[in-house]
Amino acid sequence: MAHEHQQVGSLLQEANLALEGSGSPSLDCQLILAFALGQTREWLIANSDRKICEKQADEFRNLILRRKQREPVAYILGRKEFWNSQLAVTRDTLVPRPETELLVETLLNKFDDTPRLVVDLGTGSGAIAVALASERPNWQIVGVDISQGALEVAKGNGSSFPKLSWMQGFWGNALRDNCFDLLVCNPPYIAENDPYLDHLGCEPQVALVSDDNGLADLYLVIQEARHLLKPGGHVLLEHGHDQQQQVCNRLKDSDFDALPLADLQGHPRAVLARKGIQVLP
Ligand SMILES: C[S@@+](CC[C@H](N)C(=O)[O-])C[C@H]1O[C@@H](n2cnc3c(N)ncnc32)[C@H](O)[C@@H]1O
Repeated sequence: MAHEHQQVGSLLQEANLALEGSGSPSLDCQLILAFALGQTREWLIANSDRKICEKQADEFRNLILRRKQREPVAYILGRKEFWNSQLAVTRDTLVPRPETELLVETLLNKFDDTPRLVVDLGTGSGAIAVALASERPNWQIVGVDISQGALEVAKGNGSSFPKLSWMQGFWGNALRDNCFDLLVCNPPYIAENDPYLDHLGCEPQVALVSDDNGLADLYLVIQEARHLLKPGGHVLLEHGHDQQQQVCNRLKDSDFDALPLADLQGHPRAVLARKGIQVLP
């Protein structure tokens, strides 16, 4: 097919057709073309008659092909917006989800900028840790992940926040007991046999899947919270829509009180819990 000097508008039309049937073809095409041309989406709209050279058009078509093969737009662009910033993401990191902003919002609403020691377990791209650091400059925040590749990305994302540090570890095993005020965690919580996993093929399995019907890591992190938090410290956990009851029960059995939280769509999404004030042996 000859595509010599195709116009922006017709390139977008062609790409829209190629992505027909995917979730949001029009938005995806605009984001990808704006990225390929180093322009904004507004520029595309204002310049739909502008001719694009064949080399740029081919580059764009290759990116659209990746999207057609279900690669997330965030991996194609190498970035994703979360809270108030654009974060770098790679195939080593989960693509941060808008639902996870509930964790950030909950902590900001409840805790002021008094100095606190905070840990983000399973930090991935650093999304939660970086958002908190940007809003609470007095908090000392540690982001932990098992994946060195993810930590490299997180370090870049958090490089402008002096009180943010990073550590590789299996949950809290490299951290000191009884010294954190807050523990936040969005662990892997999808069951191994969940058919929804077929849609998430590009993202790291270690970020998504957990044993015991998706609950194994949530339970491990509750155990960690018992040890890492000071008496009276708080843990905030994201979980799957059908896991809230089990998470609350496990927290209560572990000497926490538990406040269930829903996301903007009204789905059960997180639990905030306070550790009992008795000092553990
Ligand atoms: C659901 S992702 C969350 C990433 C990020 N916090 C977010 O909300 O976008 C879970 C993260 O936990 C990490 N992880 C999985 N198992 C872990 C373990 N045993 N210890 C530490 N981190 C772990 C994964 O590498 C992944 O980055």
